[in-house]
Order: sequence, then structure tokens, then C-alpha cells
Amino acid sequence: MKLKIFTDYEKTSTALAEEIMELLSLKLNSNICLAAGDTPKGLFKVLRERATNTDTFSQCEFFGLDEWVGLGRKDKGSCKNLVYSELLEPLNISEERIHFFDALSENLEQECSKIDSLIDEKGGLDIVVLGIGMNGHVGFNEPGARLESGSHVIELDEVTKTVGQKYFSKKTKLSHGITLGLKQLLSSKHVFLLVCGKNKSPIVKRTLEEAISLEVPASNLRLNEDLTVYLDEAAATLLNN
Ligand code: F6R
Repeated sequence: MKLKIFTDYEKTSTALAEEIMELLSLKLNSNICLAAGDTPKGLFKVLRERATNTDTFSQCEFFGLDEWVGLGRKDKGSCKNLVYSELLEPLNISEERIHFFDALSENLEQECSKIDSLIDEKGGLDIVVLGIGMNGHVGFNEPGARLESGSHVIELDEVTKTVGQKYFSKKTKLSHGITLGLKQLLSSKHVFLLVCGKNKSPIVKRTLEEAISLEVPASNLRLNEDLTVYLDEAAATLLNN
């Protein structure tokens, strides 16, 4: 595991964007999976700015990490809505290159197998950018997640349902999520965990310094040989060194 700590959110986001751009220059047709949420907004901003004069992303395939069951692209607060509006639309990525779960589907199991097969067909994920939940979740791999899970539907943890309200302008019923599984995240080529802010410092400490445990799903990312953790100083406050 590599740990990179920067003074603030902007510098952390910029450094990660630069590392991603460098990886893309080595493999133009990378398969990229990006978390939604508040944390990657700064990263998306830098990627938008840096991509204006290049066609860096034109051969990439984009995969969604997760979605709230029952919400779609038009719903403000959904993962799809955020990643489309903050990155995919401004970059003009064509629909054929975008693969998100349809969390409005009546057959969510089929959605899971469709995405699992597609990722396999495309040769696996090259670049995965993850955030971390206050309860240690990654994607919607909640406490008690399983290492061998591929894409799956899950009943959301109470913490996720409560914290998740921050994405919506009015109270929204959140009960289930659809997500890539730890199996996919652990077998991805380059995994980046991006965490900023003091409120995340306790969970960052548990994730990086305590024993790997399924109670803190993010700690299992340490099993991936190419995990790089990007933190701002606030998120790193409680770390030993
Ligand atoms: C979002 C996702 C979640 C978030 C996590 C942190 O697609 O997969 O795991 O990354 O909940 O969210 P923020 O960045 O809003 O604190």
C-alpha cells in the first residue's frame, strides 16, 4: 500500500488527477470505475480542466461503482446523476463507453450479472477510485461484506441511510444499494482510496492501522497490491506516523 498525504483537499484532488492522467497515457483504453459522493468532486473538476485540450479519455470505458436502488440518472443525488453531470457529460463521453447499474430495473440480479460479465469481457478494471463511508464502506460494501462478492444488491447499513440524506434536497427513502463487490475491487489493477476531511479521520485510522476486518470493508483494500491511499492532512490527523 502506498500512502500519500497532501496539505488540503485541492492538492489531494490534483495529485490524484495527475496520477490518473499518467496511467491513462500508458493505457489509453483503460477501464475506469469512479465513486460518486462528495469527495471526488475536486478530482472531477481537475480532470475536466486537464482534459479540455486532449483526447485522453476518448478510448476509456467508464463503469459505475454503485447506485441507490430506485434512483436513476434524472434523480439529483443519485450516483449516476453526479458522475454524469460532473464528469461524463462535460467530457462528452459517448453512451457506448458508459456502463452503470440500472437501479430502476425490475431485475436487479440481471443487472449485476450484466455488469460482472461486461467487466470480465473488457479485461477487468484498470483504475478504480473509491471513497470511504463513515462506517468504513466502499461502494455499498457495508460492514459484514464478503470478500468473494461480485456485483450484488444489499440492504443498506443504518449509517449509510442516515449519512446518505446529505445528497438529497428533501428526505429520501434509502433502503437498498446495488454495488460492485469486494472481489472486483480487490482484483482491479490500480485502486485509489481518496479520503478528505477531519470527520473521516477515525475511520481512516481503523481502515489503515487496525487489523483487516470485514466490519471495516475498506480495510480489505489493503489486500490489493496496488492500493494507493490519497489523504488530506485533516483525514490523516489520527494516523500514527
Ligand atoms: C459513492 C460510494 C460511497 C462513497 C462514500 C463516501 O459512489 O460508493 O461509498 O464513496 O460513502 O461518500 P462522500 O465522499 O460523500 O463522503
